[in-house]
Amino acid sequence: LPEVNIGIFGGGTVGGGIVEIIESKREHFEKMTGKSINVKKIVVRDLDKARDFTVPEGCVITTDFDDILGDDSLDIIVEVMGGTTLANDVVRKALSNGQDVVTANKALIAANLPDIEALINKVNEGKDEKVEFRYEAAVCGGIPIIRSLQSDFVGDDITMISGIINGCTNFMLTAMDVHGKSYDEALSEASDLGYAEADPTLDVGGFDARSKLKILIRLAYGIDVEEEDISCRGITDLTKLDFQYAKMMGGSIKLIGVAKAVGDGKVAAFVSPAYVTQNDSLYAVTGATNAIELISKNLETTTLIGQGAGRYPTANSCINDIISLAKGDKTPLPFNPPSKDAKFVNNYESNF
Ligand code: NDP
Ligand code: HSE
Repeated sequence: LPEVNIGIFGGGTVGGGIVEIIESKREHFEKMTGKSINVKKIVVRDLDKARDFTVPEGCVITTDFDDILGDDSLDIIVEVMGGTTLANDVVRKALSNGQDVVTANKALIAANLPDIEALINKVNEGKDEKVEFRYEAAVCGGIPIIRSLQSDFVGDDITMISGIINGCTNFMLTAMDVHGKSYDEALSEASDLGYAEADPTLDVGGFDARSKLKILIRLAYGIDVEEEDISCRGITDLTKLDFQYAKMMGGSIKLIGVAKAVGDGKVAAFVSPAYVTQNDSLYAVTGATNAIELISKNLETTTLIGQGAGRYPTANSCINDIISLAKGDKTPLPFNPPSKDAKFVNNYESNF
């Protein structure tokens, strides 16, 4: 069979899951794609660290970035290492080298979206064989929201996107509210389960949700908003008393992200903890589950609910990207076209 060779940056929660799924579904993927999908190289930081997945036969595990980035036999570079500096170099070099990229790194995309887009356009200019950039796992883990916005909503006008878009904090809020855990216990459990970012401030400060919202705003409205312009409050100031008050009123507290078209082509957005009543659909969304509601002209209300963090949900989205690339599917505009008319406004200007 023809081979699709993969190099992975990162052998942690997500990277390990990708390797496991590729190996466990090898025959199935061969039948689906007519190709043999092989993980050839994995880059990690610490070679002595015990791995909780089996390194496939013939796969090299290394700390040498150049060994993998200079290897033209690799068709797909998967970046699941995290961070915005080295990861950005990896993605840029791979794309420049004509290799397809799959990443789960929303912080990287949110910080560099226009640059990545410009590079893809430059690399692809006048070429028949275009590089592909896939990032389904970057927003809401296992929920197929990127693909939906790239395809299912192309004929629609989205007026609002809202919901729970960070699994770690939703897990923590559930642990504190329902199971009476302290903030520190809840965060420690979320980290042990692989939900938290390497720097959990990104989760609890609302910044991870803000990065995701920025990406969703580009896909839904064609606007490149600066992350800092999105109003952002995390869960760090919440106390037991807040949950007691919420319970007294018959509801709970959720960290939500909202982006809304507020008229005249203007879009406003925020990330904030919010009180939800028992009648609100978000009330029953517990643990690391995410939920996104899209209000749009044609489809009216669409809700996507599923696991937003963790090894297998996230790896599942990366696998979808990898198999789609192996099948030869094309997504020439990974961020949808930018809009000339739409404009981001802060919440004071928006009459939210
Ligand atoms: P982990 O911390 O579990 O894994 C990171 C991996 O990358 C580790 O294997 C680590 O090596 C390696 N790594 C990190 N820095 C370097 C470096 N400087 N040089 C070489 N290797 C390095 O992270 P996750 O798997 O949880 O997350 C990876 C990415 O996926 C992040 O961008 C995250 O935002 C994203 N993501 C994660 C989700 C989740 O639920 N976990 C969900 C959606 C997206 P070593 O093992 O040796 O330390
Ligand atoms: N830390 C992130 C979250 C991982 O909890 O949602 C998935 O994006």
